[in-house]
Amino acid sequence: MNTILVGAQWGDEGKGKIIDVLTKDADIVVRSQGGNNAGHTVEVGKEKYVLHLIPSGILWPKKTCVIGNGVVIDPVSLVEEIKGLEARGFKTKGNLLLSENAHLVFPYHRAIDELRELRKGKGKIGTTKRGIGPAYGDKAARVGLRLVDLLKPAQFKEKLTERIETNNIAIKALGGKSVPVKETLVAYEAAAKILRPYITNTVVWLHEALTKKKKMLFEGAQGTFLDIDFGTYPYVTSSNTTAGGASTGSGVPPHRMDRVVGCMKAYTTRVGEGNLPTESAQLADLFHGMGREFGATTGRARRCGWFDAVATHYAGLVNGFDEVAVTNLDGLDSLSEIKVCVAYELKGKRIDYPPVDLAEWNAIKPVYKTFKGWKTDTSKVREYKKLPVAARNYLKGIADLTGAELTIVSVGPRREATLWV
Ligand code: GDP
Ligand code: IMO
Ligand code: MG
Repeated sequence: MNTILVGAQWGDEGKGKIIDVLTKDADIVVRSQGGNNAGHTVEVGKEKYVLHLIPSGILWPKKTCVIGNGVVIDPVSLVEEIKGLEARGFKTKGNLLLSENAHLVFPYHRAIDELRELRKGKGKIGTTKRGIGPAYGDKAARVGLRLVDLLKPAQFKEKLTERIETNNIAIKALGGKSVPVKETLVAYEAAAKILRPYITNTVVWLHEALTKKKKMLFEGAQGTFLDIDFGTYPYVTSSNTTAGGASTGSGVPPHRMDRVVGCMKAYTTRVGEGNLPTESAQLADLFHGMGREFGATTGRARRCGWFDAVATHYAGLVNGFDEVAVTNLDGLDSLSEIKVCVAYELKGKRIDYPPVDLAEWNAIKPVYKTFKGWKTDTSKVREYKKLPVAARNYLKGIADLTGAELTIVSVGPRREATLWV
């Protein structure tokens, strides 16, 4: 069974937590897109881990984690993450493989990311400033450097010098500070030295694993509405965050994928700019007051809203959800009434899909259905059937509206707070 887990909303759905619990039954965990813009939180016992590039499966012994060709890798940041995990007792050598096809992120990508945002002013995207957009831009423009380039130091030095000098022209034009050539070469050579033993042909490796019938888990980053094609463009990231990205970003063909699980919060959150139709100050106050919903990568307060079933239904179409995992149910425990968006209203007309045109997307008004709250602490419940009836009704309601079978419910950040339906 090869499983793809993708975010059904705007990212931060709790994918890290669900991947961690699903890893128990997998042999291999694969990241196939995004970069260190992702922040996947896993809590085990008293420990909390936030993973950015390394698949969340790394916390389990004897599982292989693969960073596939579709990911953009900041090698300096990856080395930091590896060192952080090793310092906490996790082995990465032999357990972590990096695709030689994956593209690299450089300081000039980060500089351009930031400068473009500044220039946009109020119209900014609200990126993580990790250089993700410019790095994917270079990949598409065919001027990127890949991990395979790190294997030939002399050639890498030459290519990177040219890239820095060329990008410095753009940086200067945008009013930024040039990226230093020498310092960057030194930092990247130091990172390359550490990363070389991890770099391999992951496509061949994954296909050998397929023939050995190893079970794979594909860990999506970001979420459906941040997808470069299907998201709320231009307020999106620069990769395909949807299920298809798992194939193109790993080299494992679509017909070898057996199951797609959509991961969604019991409500909605979003970080960065762009319309969030169900945004609610009441929910933001509630969650922030509980110390929840602060970004795992940037620490920004996440915007909060009611569950948007129009969005998750569309996500179900694009990803082909067989199942859904609902996280953060416990966040709604104190409410007596819970709203769910079941349609949008646009210019007096009811629509049941997200409009593509930005002005229309900005103009839609949510149409709500109200569910009864359960007013009970669910965080200590350990069996699905022990959840209050109203909570089960709510869960079934949002899964039905999404159009997929509910199989996992999460009521807390830790492994044991997982209910199998
Ligand atoms: P990801 O990017 O999709 O992996 O999600 P993040 O880790 O960025 O954000 C999800 C947050 O919710 C993290 O702080 C998790 O520890 C937390 N979380 C996940 N599931 C639950 C849950 O069921 N209940 C609670 N209270 N927290 C959860
Ligand atoms: P995980 O994997 C939530 C958002 C940014 C911004 C937009 C573009 O933890 O769910 P980028 O830096 O990618 O160019 O930013 O996408 N964004 C995320 N939001 N979770 C993420 O990852 C995100 N990765 C990017 O906030 O709005
Ligand atoms: Mg996150």
